[in-house]
Amino acid sequence: MTQSQKTWSDRFESSLHPAIARFNASIGFDIELLPYDLTGSIAHAQMLGRTGIISAEDANRITNGLEQIRAEAERGEFTPGIDAEDVHFAVERRLTQLIGDTGKKLHTARSRNDQVGTDVRLYLRDRIHHLRDRVRDFQRALVDLAAAHVETLIPGYTHLQRAQPVSLAHHLLAYFQMAQRDWERLGEVAARTNISPLGCGALAGTTFAIDRDDTARQLGFDGIYANSLDGVSDRDFAIEFMSAASLIMMHLSRLSEEVILWSSQEFGFVTLADSCATGSSIMPQKKNPDVPELVRGKTGRVFGHLQGLLVLMKGLPLAYNKDLQEDKEALFDAVKTTDACLEAMTIMMCEGIEFRQARLDAAVTEDFSNATDVADYLAARGVPFREAYNLVGRVVRTCLAANKLLKDLTLDEWQELHPAFADDIYAAIAPQQVVAARNSAGGTGFEQVRQAILAARALLDDAASPSS
Ligand code: ARG
Repeated sequence: MTQSQKTWSDRFESSLHPAIARFNASIGFDIELLPYDLTGSIAHAQMLGRTGIISAEDANRITNGLEQIRAEAERGEFTPGIDAEDVHFAVERRLTQLIGDTGKKLHTARSRNDQVGTDVRLYLRDRIHHLRDRVRDFQRALVDLAAAHVETLIPGYTHLQRAQPVSLAHHLLAYFQMAQRDWERLGEVAARTNISPLGCGALAGTTFAIDRDDTARQLGFDGIYANSLDGVSDRDFAIEFMSAASLIMMHLSRLSEEVILWSSQEFGFVTLADSCATGSSIMPQKKNPDVPELVRGKTGRVFGHLQGLLVLMKGLPLAYNKDLQEDKEALFDAVKTTDACLEAMTIMMCEGIEFRQARLDAAVTEDFSNATDVADYLAARGVPFREAYNLVGRVVRTCLAANKLLKDLTLDEWQELHPAFADDIYAAIAPQQVVAARNSAGGTGFEQVRQAILAARALLDDAASPSS
């Protein structure tokens, strides 16, 4: 067999069984790394030229050839098949077709092991920047919606039982805070992703006098792996990313679950816009919350990728093992899924849900979620809180038996219960007042919420400045 048909060195006499070739190949998915593979190879070639390991002329010829491949790919003309095995071989083979034997010099002082590690890190660095922008868009949608609903009240729940009413803005801003941590976390992962393994070789470094700082600088890495064995076999950054992505998804999934509940007839707090809801193929009256349901479903998929990669790594002896080829599909899918979910949820928060004021008003008026405020009223007038709490518990029980709400009690009835009650009790337990009064730091009081919106906007503006 001729050398051009066979990937491997002359140690091999015959080619792979076709089924094994298909089994072994990663070109079907690692073609996604192509732009990064080209950029990494150009940096490597330039470094080889600068250090005199190859001539400057050869380095430039290789660089031009690689740029030609980039142009071909952009025109959709670079479509390597299974026989190329992976993106790295595909590029080297095409390069040699384009520029002749000089192309064969590119792989001097390099292995696919440090090469693929470099590619994956460059890929992930890019995608993390993109995802951080997506998180920002989501946060912006939340703040805008919150700003329109500072004084809209919604029941606040614990144990999914109505607890105390809150400002709807306050509720939405809780998700803003989760997203803020997500944004920060992605930044931290980006920093640990941005370390260069290039020059670690197959596992032990190289006999050539390469300059790893040079390639790291060219590629915008913040530093280089200090240990070559670690450099070629570390996937911590990918696991950290998937963990950060899992947290993003978990947050989106919780919000999804709420939107699903809110849009049910039982809650009836929101109506889904036609642009973000779907119908049933059989029940004409239905409007289904497919978007949040899909986000909730896809969350499991991203969690699975995190688990998959952890398990992939746990038994690997140093250094590179082919198992590591299995990191890519999971990583790419986690990136794409998280990206798509952030986008869909942002659209949904921007235009997909409309809050039903009348339903919300009824929900915060027709229950006992102001009971704590009655206890607080007494406690503020010198009654020990626990005593007040027990007394209000009895009041609620009496009201329930009489099919009344707290606001329906007459002043006489109040004063019979405790002489400290005066006619300001009615104002004190009105839903708007109940919420407004929770003005402790981070609470739902309108003043607090207005400040929180300003603080949130300041965070977003900060991030828009070029320094971050
Ligand atoms: N396609 C391989 C991967 O994704 C590239 C590295 C192969 N290295 C090796 N020693 N077989 O991991």
